[in-house]
Amino acid sequence: MCGIVAYIGPREAYPVILKGLKRLEYRGYDSAGISLLNGGLKVYKKKGKVAMLEETLQGKDLHANIGIGHTRWATHGEPSDRNAHPHTSASGKLAMIHNGIIENYASLKQELINKGYVFQSDTDTEVLLNFIEEIKKKNKCALEEALRIALKRIVGAYVIVLIDQDNPDTLIAARKGSPLVIGIGKDEHFLASDASPIIEYTKEVVYVNDYELAIIKADELILKNLGNERQTPFITKLDMELAAIEKGGYEHFMLKEIFEQPQTIYDCLRGRLDANAGTITMSGIEKYAEQIMNANRIVMVACGTSWHAALVAEYIFEELCRINVEVEYASEFRYRNPVIIKGDVIIAISQSGETADTLVAIENAKAKGAIILGVVNVVGSSIARVSDAGAYTHAGPEIGVASTKAFTAQLAVLTMVALKIGYEKGVLDHDRYLQLLKELDSIPEKVTTVLQQNDHLKVLAEKYKEARDFLYLGRGYNFPVALEGALKLKEISYIHAEGYPAAEMKHGPIALVDENLPVVFIATKDSYHEKVLSNMQEIKARKGKVIAVINEGDEQSIALADDIIVVPEADEIMAPMLSTIPLQLLAYYIGILKDVDVDKPRNLAKSVTVE
Ligand code: AGP
Repeated sequence: MCGIVAYIGPREAYPVILKGLKRLEYRGYDSAGISLLNGGLKVYKKKGKVAMLEETLQGKDLHANIGIGHTRWATHGEPSDRNAHPHTSASGKLAMIHNGIIENYASLKQELINKGYVFQSDTDTEVLLNFIEEIKKKNKCALEEALRIALKRIVGAYVIVLIDQDNPDTLIAARKGSPLVIGIGKDEHFLASDASPIIEYTKEVVYVNDYELAIIKADELILKNLGNERQTPFITKLDMELAAIEKGGYEHFMLKEIFEQPQTIYDCLRGRLDANAGTITMSGIEKYAEQIMNANRIVMVACGTSWHAALVAEYIFEELCRINVEVEYASEFRYRNPVIIKGDVIIAISQSGETADTLVAIENAKAKGAIILGVVNVVGSSIARVSDAGAYTHAGPEIGVASTKAFTAQLAVLTMVALKIGYEKGVLDHDRYLQLLKELDSIPEKVTTVLQQNDHLKVLAEKYKEARDFLYLGRGYNFPVALEGALKLKEISYIHAEGYPAAEMKHGPIALVDENLPVVFIATKDSYHEKVLSNMQEIKARKGKVIAVINEGDEQSIALADDIIVVPEADEIMAPMLSTIPLQLLAYYIGILKDVDVDKPRNLAKSVTVE
């Protein structure tokens, strides 16, 4: 899940590529590098963030109108200067950047070593590059032809972009599994892993498909398949503004995205939910409404925070639609031999739409005849394109590595789908349906109220920032919120945290409880509230420090808890969209106090495009 950028055209390539790499840095920040072609091939690369590379290039002659750039998330070979991309071929004439994993690289490497090749790095990328060059040399063919031959021998995922000293007016790229967008300008082309480096130059883009090659000149874009047949580029207009990918005065993207949630949830409901008319309109779901209503079960597939959204949706769909839901970790589901029968409904949930495990899991299920519905945030992403239908979450670009606004938007979309299906299936009575539509419609405003707790969360963060461990507990709809709260804290503060169903605690984790352990309870008023109170007493009995997310006037929790966070009351089905937000802020402020780079925490990347 590296970030790749390339440019060819009349502009200075270096500033375009450098800015693009900074926009994509959330995809990986172990090392960065650039290669420019002006007469000879120049390659500059450095371990660490893009800013480190920029520093080393001060004062250098960086003039060129063609170049490639890369920001890395290490898979093969530790973060270092020599493992940074771009890699150069043995002849020194080719340079290449790569996002993905070449699974059969070891056998190819041995083949090349037997031919006398010596490798400068530990990467699979350098192996692929020399493999391409070897074919070019042996077959005395053009680079494009050599690439086509080589890719037929490759196992794995890749986006690669090549620059060739002998062909200074052409970039060659290829894609399978990892994302590649090409921006079309006037006599110039921009290549990137997603649209964020392109949006300020053009809104006309082409999403390259699997097994496609792109041969790019300043004034020409040719797409071909591995069979050397020309493909017609499908040009899409980007529906995104530059401001959406700027910090807008906030110190971090994560804080901006947390505070965007009243608007992003509203954007998610807009044009779909009409609480006054009592309607939900979701054209991407309507086509398969029949199949969903008659499904014996729905399988939800996702990873990380999106998997937590699936867990909340399991409770909602079973409650409102009376359909059995199974929630699957995509990474397990793709390798387990799950029983899938024709017509099974699979819902894939993903912010980026590029998570490799989720993508392959649904490709496998689709091959067995399942119907794939996508709940995705990034328009035009791979999961959106593989899905038969679905709904975008319209949360706008999410740049902070820790998912926040995408999570609440996923909950809003999944709740609308469940309400629609439950009502149309006739298992959700009319009054309850209308009441829940009104509840959902009131969520954006209630989120604004929750965000007014911002300063209080700063105080709590200061109080608990030294804790070594945290426990997050919830029941029912709030159990997945406990998991999500724990994940946010782990990601952003590097403090060990675990989420549990509150009742499960007695079966082991309670052994962890002492006066040094903060225990966060998500204890909003719902059908589980009395039970949660007794769990709170069990913690207090063992001197645990209780932080409780509660509703106004909840005297029992106030009496038990060491600290409280008050959120507006809502139907238990909607409560996760409110109770999650203070947990996002708590993690954010503890991360800040621990001096963590909260937008780019260590070892993580925004979209996990390798398995
Ligand atoms: C969440 O904060 C993490 N960034 C991560 O767990 C993420 O949710 C997971 O990688 C799934 O990503 P997706 O929603 O883009 O598929």
